[in-house]
Amino acid sequence: MKHGDAEVPRLTVIGTGYLGTTHAICMAVLGFEVLGVDVDQHKIDRLAAGEVPMFEPGLPELLTKALESGRLRFTTSYAEAGDFGDVHFVCVGTPQLPDSDAADLSYVDAAVRSLAPHLRRRALVVGKSTVPVGTAQRLTGVLQELAPAGTGAELAWNPEFLREGFAVDDTLRPDRLVFGVASDWADERLRAAFRPVLDLGTPVIRTDLATAELVKVAANSFLATKISYINAMAEVCEAVGADVKDLADSLALDDRIGGKFLRPGLGFGGGCLPKDIRAFAHRAEEIGVGQAVSFLREVDDINRRRRARTVDIVREVLGGDVNGKRIAAWGAAFKPNSDDIRDAPALDVAHTLHDLGGDVRVYDPAALGNARRAFPELRYGDSAFDVAKDADVIVLLTEWSDFREVEPEALAGIVSHRRIVDGRHALDAAQWRSAGWEYRALGRS
Ligand code: UDX
Repeated sequence: MKHGDAEVPRLTVIGTGYLGTTHAICMAVLGFEVLGVDVDQHKIDRLAAGEVPMFEPGLPELLTKALESGRLRFTTSYAEAGDFGDVHFVCVGTPQLPDSDAADLSYVDAAVRSLAPHLRRRALVVGKSTVPVGTAQRLTGVLQELAPAGTGAELAWNPEFLREGFAVDDTLRPDRLVFGVASDWADERLRAAFRPVLDLGTPVIRTDLATAELVKVAANSFLATKISYINAMAEVCEAVGADVKDLADSLALDDRIGGKFLRPGLGFGGGCLPKDIRAFAHRAEEIGVGQAVSFLREVDDINRRRRARTVDIVREVLGGDVNGKRIAAWGAAFKPNSDDIRDAPALDVAHTLHDLGGDVRVYDPAALGNARRAFPELRYGDSAFDVAKDADVIVLLTEWSDFREVEPEALAGIVSHRRIVDGRHALDAAQWRSAGWEYRALGRS
């Protein structure tokens, strides 16, 4: 590819968190010249040295490849970014504010305000972060006021849908691309910046800025609603002695419904779904349409109740009292194949059991380091078997394959009592029961 001309834009990626790191590396692998930008010198140094700061399958190998190609560099200088880039992707985080359901937009604002004064020629700034609807319009004003290029600096929105654990694949081969643009020029620039992905036949939706912002929160709200829907059915099943696993399997075979995101259990967590539905409900209230998405409050409540109910089931199998009981907690990450513990249901349950006086020991194949740093008061072990030693009960909280593959017979001699609570419907109930275990799961009699 010939860079820096009208055909092939030079790219910058601002914010080297989960999204930005993946995007910068993948775009360089696809053949673009990319400059990764972050205010954190330590992060930049690690990336430049070839170190990926999170657990993401396939990404370390691609970082090495991208660095070796000479197409990927990192900097903390916005002046360098403004000078270098034709298309600038803003990938900074929008976490939940500490005392509100709203999203914290300070990082997005800071990124645009820091970059704009360095935009001296025509350039496209593309937001990828998840933001409340209306943000892109507001930032367009900020950008054009601060950029020496004035209205030559344009803003577009291109939401990101990557899933942790599948981030590389979701970036290189996405289901769809959404281009929220205010002009044909912006659309053309985005098409140039995604040319290799478009050449795969990836569908593109061209739309306005507000719709592009909404697509992301609407998608995450739908996914969260689907999960809470089946978990609500689990509550009903428990009340009447029915089986939510069989119910979910039956619904999944209706291809209008489908089985994805219909796995009942401990519910959703992570850095996206919980905070995105709260921020969406909050924003909808601000703009006078709160009632339209008020069901998202219920979706959130159902999800939180799953954690409380899991604690209740553990208490029940322990005869009503957790105090002093040895509890093996399998899992800490918010989902398997991730070391992310943000709003992790697993650690929430482990911590509540600890607060109730349980002698809890946690094991996770990837997230132990993060869990230890966040919750030093919990005890940790080296393996699924290690934490299960002398346990009064095992609680499966994250469905890692390491846990799914454990043979119940092999564990039988290690634990004090053969009791297992399967918070993720990850185990074969019949197999565990026939090996002499008391098996319990949410929504199953
Ligand atoms: C999510 C979206 O999928 C992605 O498109 C968006 O860009 C970011 O948020 P991610 O947070 O990586 O991605 O996780 P995802 O795989 O979507 O799972 C979210 C949570 O839902 C996890 O805690 C998972 O355990 C839970 N889940 C998922 C269920 O409880 N049941 C299911 O059936 C599916």
